[in-house]
Amino acid sequence: MCGIVGYTGTHSVAEILTEGLARLEYRGYDSSGVALEHANGSGLDVVRRVGKVSELVDELQNKRLLGAAAGTGEGAAAAGDAKAATCSTCGIGHTRWATHGRPTEENAHPHTSCDGRIAIVHNGIIENFAELREELEGRGHVFKSDTDTEVIAHLVEEAYLGRCANDAAATDAEAPARAAGTHDLVAALRLACERVTGAYGIAAVCEDEPGVIAVARKDSPIVVGTCERGSYVASDAIAIMDATRDVVVLEDGQFARLTPEGIEFTDASGAVIQPEMTHIDWDMDAAEKSGYPDFMLKEIYEQPRVVRDTLTGRLAGGALAIDELGLTLEELNLIDRVYVIACGTSYHAGLIAKNLVEAWARIPCEVEAASEFRYRDPIITPSTLVVAVSQSGETADTLAAIRDARIKGAKVFGITNVVGSPVARESDGVIYTKANKEIAVASTKSFIGQVVSLTLLAMLLAQVKGRLRQAQVRLLFRELGDTAEQIQRIFDTQEPAIHEAALACEHASSALFVGRGMGAAISYEGALKLKEISYLHAEAYAAGEMKHGPIALITPGFPVIAVATKSPTYDKLVSNLKECEARGATIIAIATEGDEDIRAIADHVIYVPPVRDAMSPITATVPLQLLAREVALLRGCDVDRPRNLAKSVTVE
Ligand code: M6R
Repeated sequence: MCGIVGYTGTHSVAEILTEGLARLEYRGYDSSGVALEHANGSGLDVVRRVGKVSELVDELQNKRLLGAAAGTGEGAAAAGDAKAATCSTCGIGHTRWATHGRPTEENAHPHTSCDGRIAIVHNGIIENFAELREELEGRGHVFKSDTDTEVIAHLVEEAYLGRCANDAAATDAEAPARAAGTHDLVAALRLACERVTGAYGIAAVCEDEPGVIAVARKDSPIVVGTCERGSYVASDAIAIMDATRDVVVLEDGQFARLTPEGIEFTDASGAVIQPEMTHIDWDMDAAEKSGYPDFMLKEIYEQPRVVRDTLTGRLAGGALAIDELGLTLEELNLIDRVYVIACGTSYHAGLIAKNLVEAWARIPCEVEAASEFRYRDPIITPSTLVVAVSQSGETADTLAAIRDARIKGAKVFGITNVVGSPVARESDGVIYTKANKEIAVASTKSFIGQVVSLTLLAMLLAQVKGRLRQAQVRLLFRELGDTAEQIQRIFDTQEPAIHEAALACEHASSALFVGRGMGAAISYEGALKLKEISYLHAEAYAAGEMKHGPIALITPGFPVIAVATKSPTYDKLVSNLKECEARGATIIAIATEGDEDIRAIADHVIYVPPVRDAMSPITATVPLQLLAREVALLRGCDVDRPRNLAKSVTVE
């Protein structure tokens, strides 16, 4: 949820770190910080700021550690391109999403050892930090923050020195077992990791080992890469892919020692290993706004491409081809129960899948929040298929649920956007949504990629079970592909209507989203999008439930946003809306082009092209994304980085 970047080489590190942190800011942005080795290798400068990376940049400039003042002869925009003369060339940086301890400067990373000679940055969570802290304080360590992370700095210090730096009296004679110390940063980090339980990606520097960065990983992503300018580490390749696209994605229990000359890899026993390289082939454009005012709009506008790319190669010789499934057609045919497990927006994609799997394949399908699934005792047999949906492929609850399901004997199929992510690696098979990197915290294009992938999966199950003939599959496939153009038509024609509808929500204190069938599933996603980026409270209900309670909320002007596309339950929905209209609600309808009757009850109508009900989640969700963004902008919110949220939720 936080971001790590580190560099050691021949170029100015401050620019490289701040540029990398800005790219990682979508993962966490409560505070940020860097530890820079002094240019002459004689100490560390640790600078931390609450707030966005831009605050850190200002502070580094004030302290003359960044830009021309740092002696590079070039400004921050050069991002380290200048050969370092008098500036630091080794350091680590971090952008934080607070878990333990408030977002303050003291709690921002890097954290340091007692004497400040060792600095570390950490992603993840140290579960036994309270016991470790008590133990370390008992031996004289002085803590400066409320974080779980700081124990690692002190554990590394003790392993490195053989004692606490505060404890000048400790001698070999007093503590022979510990007193020798490793005086080797990677070895000390390895010993520290042996003491902690939890998840971590760690980068550490020590002023006694200039030019060295020690790196460790367990259950929290870390990539490292090297080029002629030096060696890089990051929690996400996006931070370093300008320098190199050939990276090593560390596995759990692996360590790396970065120097300007290259990287040495070791395993948990200290033995040297040679991990495989991965080539990053995303378009760098994904990391840039490319002329759009924000990433969210850019990513919404990419959705026609996502539909096309996710479908590419999926129909071969008239039949569906999902070779990565990890299951034979015979095994698929035996599936008699499906669970979709996911969180947030991905969970809503699951609600859509339930409708499709049950309607087409006639297999019972349950959708469950991964955070609940992992602590229940769900009925799982060898013929159960668990479909884990996760944009990031890192969500802690989804991963834990996958592990649990596999232990209980289920086949697990992952749907994720991130190649090589933990969800992909821990599932029996995987479909990659072709959304490309998603930066805005609110998921948009990845949701569309998930819905397209889940629609394909439902079609495949139905085909294997003999419920859909090949000709029907081909027709559905074509209609699925047609949604790309239909989304584009929404962009081209509905902007004014969406803006008008947003004005009706701007000053509201709450909003209700309603729909029936597929419309209800779409409503949940619409409500989540609105609340997470505009901070306008929103709830979604199956419209038939309104009169069982929520209708009590309706007062004149209360916004009710209805997914009112043509469907088998359209007339029922209209009746539900009339009840809201009678109580003065302002009704915003997402309706099918040509439906003029809806204007009789709706104050605002946003039209989407006519599609069969099964495809409506793709077309009807798009205007809800745009509406949420428009309301958020009217309310002065940062649509890419909503408060309190992080892009990937790697803690429970
Ligand atoms: O990476 P995942 O799909 O597993 O993430 C799940 C949720 O955390 C995510 O969808 C979250 O709800 C987004 N903020 C929604 O926009």
